[in-house]
Amino acid sequence: MCGICCFVSFSVEHCRKDLKEDLLCNLKRRGPDSSKQLLKCDMNYQCVFSGHVLHLRGVLTAQPVEDERGNVFLWNGEVFSGIKVEEIENDTQIMFNYLSSCKSESDIMSLFSEVQGPWSFIYYQASSHSLWFGRDFFGRRSLLWHFNDVDKSVCLSSVGPQTPGVANQWQEVPASGIFRIDLQSAAMAKHVRLQLYPWECISRENATEECDKSLTHASADLPMFVSVVANEAKLHLGTPVSPLNMTLPQAPLATHCSNISSVPPSRETLQVCLTDGHMKEVVEKFIDVLSVAVKRRVLCLQRDENPVPNGVLKTGDRKANVAILFSGGIDSMVIATLADRHIPLGEPIDLLNVAFVTKEKTVLSSRNKRTRKQKNHEMPPEEFSEGTAARGAGSPDENYSVPDRVTGKAGLKELQAVNPSRMWNFVEINVSLEELQQLRRTQISHLVQPLDTVLDDSIGCAVWFASRGTGWLVTQGEVKPYQSSAKVVLTGIGADEQLAGYSRHRVRFQTRGPEALNREIAMELGRISSRNLGRDDRVIGDHGKEARFPFLDENVVSFLNSLPIWEKANLTLPRGIGEKLILRLAAVELGLTASALLPKRAMQFGSRIAKMENSNEKASDKCGRLRIISLENLSLEKEVKS
Ligand SMILES: *[C@@H]1O[C@H](CO)[C@@H](O)[C@H](O)[C@H]1NC(C)=O
Ligand SMILES: *[C@@H]1O[C@H](CO)[C@@H](O)[C@H](O)[C@H]1NC(C)=O
Ligand SMILES: *[C@@H]1O[C@H](CO)[C@@H](O)[C@H](O)[C@H]1NC(C)=O
Ligand SMILES: *[C@@H]1O[C@H](CO)[C@@H](O)[C@H](O)[C@H]1NC(C)=O
Ligand SMILES: *[C@@H]1O[C@H](CO)[C@@H](O)[C@H](O)[C@H]1NC(C)=O
Ligand SMILES: *[C@@H]1O[C@H](CO)[C@@H](O)[C@H](O)[C@H]1NC(C)=O
Repeated sequence: MCGICCFVSFSVEHCRKDLKEDLLCNLKRRGPDSSKQLLKCDMNYQCVFSGHVLHLRGVLTAQPVEDERGNVFLWNGEVFSGIKVEEIENDTQIMFNYLSSCKSESDIMSLFSEVQGPWSFIYYQASSHSLWFGRDFFGRRSLLWHFNDVDKSVCLSSVGPQTPGVANQWQEVPASGIFRIDLQSAAMAKHVRLQLYPWECISRENATEECDKSLTHASADLPMFVSVVANEAKLHLGTPVSPLNMTLPQAPLATHCSNISSVPPSRETLQVCLTDGHMKEVVEKFIDVLSVAVKRRVLCLQRDENPVPNGVLKTGDRKANVAILFSGGIDSMVIATLADRHIPLGEPIDLLNVAFVTKEKTVLSSRNKRTRKQKNHEMPPEEFSEGTAARGAGSPDENYSVPDRVTGKAGLKELQAVNPSRMWNFVEINVSLEELQQLRRTQISHLVQPLDTVLDDSIGCAVWFASRGTGWLVTQGEVKPYQSSAKVVLTGIGADEQLAGYSRHRVRFQTRGPEALNREIAMELGRISSRNLGRDDRVIGDHGKEARFPFLDENVVSFLNSLPIWEKANLTLPRGIGEKLILRLAAVELGLTASALLPKRAMQFGSRIAKMENSNEKASDKCGRLRIISLENLSLEKEVKS
């Protein structure tokens, strides 16, 4: 993960040679290994390029890179496939070489259509005075833009400043395609035209309509001196994944899977389903493609190669290079099992398990509140619907334990059974209300922005604390403080979107049928960039770590997209089995047990962060706690105090 930024000013009197201190500081947190700045001056405009590198593989390549023709490149990405990058090469340099050899705009389109992996980039093409930038198809890397009406400047950055001010909103660059600004024309016209080179629309039928939609989306909330238009040559980027298979079942299907009845789902019922030859084949293919995706993500990084003499390994000898955001739920369990297949055996794997620790009283009172709500038959907002485990009925133990901690520990036991010779570091990350409130204010809220709902707050904070990896290792009753050193953090995001894991999928299916479910899945994947990924990238990148998303590997998505819905989920089956059915079958094949049957539990409930503060708010409400005190207010405060 890197921090990249470009500040463009069009007027001499407002030109700036440095970035603001707080923005620079936030960028450096993402790329602690090297920082560099480069200034490009033209008669009509001036650009400050700022690059901050997190070194993960190959030769350390300081950014920005510049060639003899004056082209400049900033790259926050990983080429996992599509373009050849040898082990010892740095992908920044390779991408830049390709870019500077591009002879036309359509060459640039071909390049970005071929790269597989997460990316955001900024490229200054000197000959045409063009500034190119954008994010990958799913938006797995953050990029924000900011247009200043007063001094007519443009800023692109992985992350915003600490105090963005009120009037000048930062927005996420839409992952609708790549953009180009003709800097010279912009300076002349005193108007910034953003030309969009969109991803090819998946449904040919509605191509124009879809592209109009992405233009409208991209233009929302821009100031008067900025506009988004389709590029003049009408070029497109090739979509990196195959389209979703919308086929519906013709006649009632008779497979072994249709034998699964509604009686309490068990591992045996899943095994019956696997006796179906076709289904077993599909599940095995799924495991293969996901395994390759995990392999790429755990092997593309630098390891200290100091093999332990005679294979004798003492605790603490080796450091983990890979960590997993770990709730013990099915997504993280499958990822952990596959990671174990590819990570060198002598190397531990960190399982990061976050819990927001409330006082006994708070937990009890919020439980009462919930019970009352349920009596009123109030439909909980979709993302607030909880898994049965979260309701923690009965046992006094569950009253005080955080659900994800309970399933996490159970998951650890399963993983230890799958591979007893692996050192699994189960990192207990306990966060108190005080710590949450303090760090949200000083470290987290500006990373979550421009997203601003209660849900963004909950998930942003939970992911920040989890990925920081500061917690405790509890082994044989001994409690030791622990700091995860892994620079790569795997997350299971993308499984729920593709495999109908959310309760809103179930609602859709029950009220409108299988066709509506297909549309819901297509929609979920289409908006994952703006709902989740930019935010999660900013939050995880803040620790100088890189988030990697195996479920959003291009080949995994293409494979799942090619399957008809009934091979992925069956929502007539109860929770804990029907949603993400194919993943549960994969888990059984991989030798997992109880975790294969856990129902989806949203992170904000699993970690109990949603119970920490005001538990009456809706997930979609604007979150007051994220509001950042602007500089002006801060100085006012100081004046009042002194
Ligand atoms: C980046 O990688 C290329 C190709 O491996 C190498 O020639 C170059 O020296 C590297 N750049 C830096 C700054 O390390
Ligand atoms: C195309 O648009 C029409 C009208 O908006 C809609 O009914 C139809 O489902 C769309 N087709 C596809 C494949 O998205
Ligand atoms: C359902 O299960 C029964 C008993 O296990 C088996 O005989 C039957 O063939 C199965 N039906 C289908 C359609 O696979
Ligand atoms: C889904 O599960 C139900 C209940 O077991 C079964 O009747 C139905 O055939 C299944 N659907 C598919 C497409 O397998
Ligand atoms: C974390 O909090 C839980 C719940 O209060 C507690 O049971 C556990 O012992 C704590 N872990 C550590 C390492 O403090
Ligand atoms: C969609 O699924 C159906 C049923 O399995 C299959 O016959 C068809 O080939 C699939 N279509 C694509 C484009 O993969």
